[in-house]
Amino acid sequence: MRTSQQLGARRCADFTESVIREMTRIAHEHEAINLAQGFPDFPMPAPMKEAASAAIHGDINQYAITWGAPTLRLAIAEKYRRFYELEVDPEREITVTCGATEAMAATFLALMDPGDEVIIFEPFYENYGPDAILASATPVFVPLEAPGWVLDPERLRAAFSPRTKAIVVNTPHNPTGRVFTREEIALIAELCIEHDVWAITDEIYEHIRYAGGHHLLTAVPGMRERTVTISGLSKTFSCTGWRLGYAIAPARLTGAIRKVHDFLTVGAPAPLQAAAAVGMAFDAEYYNRLALDYRARRDLMVTALADAGFKFTVPEGAYYILADFSALSGSDDATFAKWMTKEIGVATVPGSSFYQNGQGGRGLVRFAFCKQAETLRKAADRLAWMQVRA
Ligand SMILES: Cc1ncc(COP(=O)(O)O)c(C=O)c1O
Repeated sequence: MRTSQQLGARRCADFTESVIREMTRIAHEHEAINLAQGFPDFPMPAPMKEAASAAIHGDINQYAITWGAPTLRLAIAEKYRRFYELEVDPEREITVTCGATEAMAATFLALMDPGDEVIIFEPFYENYGPDAILASATPVFVPLEAPGWVLDPERLRAAFSPRTKAIVVNTPHNPTGRVFTREEIALIAELCIEHDVWAITDEIYEHIRYAGGHHLLTAVPGMRERTVTISGLSKTFSCTGWRLGYAIAPARLTGAIRKVHDFLTVGAPAPLQAAAAVGMAFDAEYYNRLALDYRARRDLMVTALADAGFKFTVPEGAYYILADFSALSGSDDATFAKWMTKEIGVATVPGSSFYQNGQGGRGLVRFAFCKQAETLRKAADRLAWMQVRA
């Protein structure tokens, strides 16, 4: 007989509670500054909040079209034309989802058959592995090595097999802060074409960059028909709670993504979609300001961590620093992260949560700096005690 512990399906038996949420809970218990979870502690743009209120009061409160309100899909298509000179058909190529998270899961479910392999760079954002397992696919990990986290062409080439169905490409990258170069993107494209493989991109940090351009895989010749471009509003408009994202894919795959999305969620929140269209129309000034503000936060955090004795590569994009603490402590990452939360009052994510097996990331913790300068300065004051207490 099965016990209540065994009632869950086998496919999710190995899923653990998100370490990030666990660290957030511990941070609450100890009144620590939460630099674990990647959500901003500052407000989202006022015009979007006003548009959301207006939409609710204007009775846009029933189901939107499953694959996204026409105004939002049009606004997304126009933004891609304006920023990337990419023509996207809002009728046949865009699916609006509940966050990039759902876009990724729906794409995996729409694309993968049992036995298919999907290449994922390691360290990785923690959802990709479970997404692969939920879709009965097998993740194949390719390491990005510290300190530079650059892509090793030979290891990548060796990861492709006759079973490879897709590769996940996240740039700017969480947790390392890497922004893949034009050459790295070109190599990935070359291998996808050579092996007839799909690219599934996660471009959620596309506008948070300090160095390098944002190179779209889908814009590389030959890639348009084999790329799913995923992004969303959470990071660009500081509204992680709105749960709005999207997948741009060739029409032949969009049909399948839309069907999966319909059965998973029916659709994303209608009034927020109306407000999202307002944000999508913001001009370059908004994005430049966003990047400049993040640069100031990054610089503050870089100084605080270097002064405290951490070693790391300065991020080129996204809002994380993956830092080596081995000069400060011989503990493993989970022990060190819990100690730092309780004794220093700053919560981080243990590095091993970004690796498939426990050994990777043992000497690393990830700091999120998507916080107000005041929060970061407070964290810096606390981190100044590191060397005394460690
Ligand atoms: C790389 C990456 N992708 C996706 C997400 C989640 O995006 P969303 O809020 O749109 O589901 C995150 C959130 O931290 C992330 O870091």
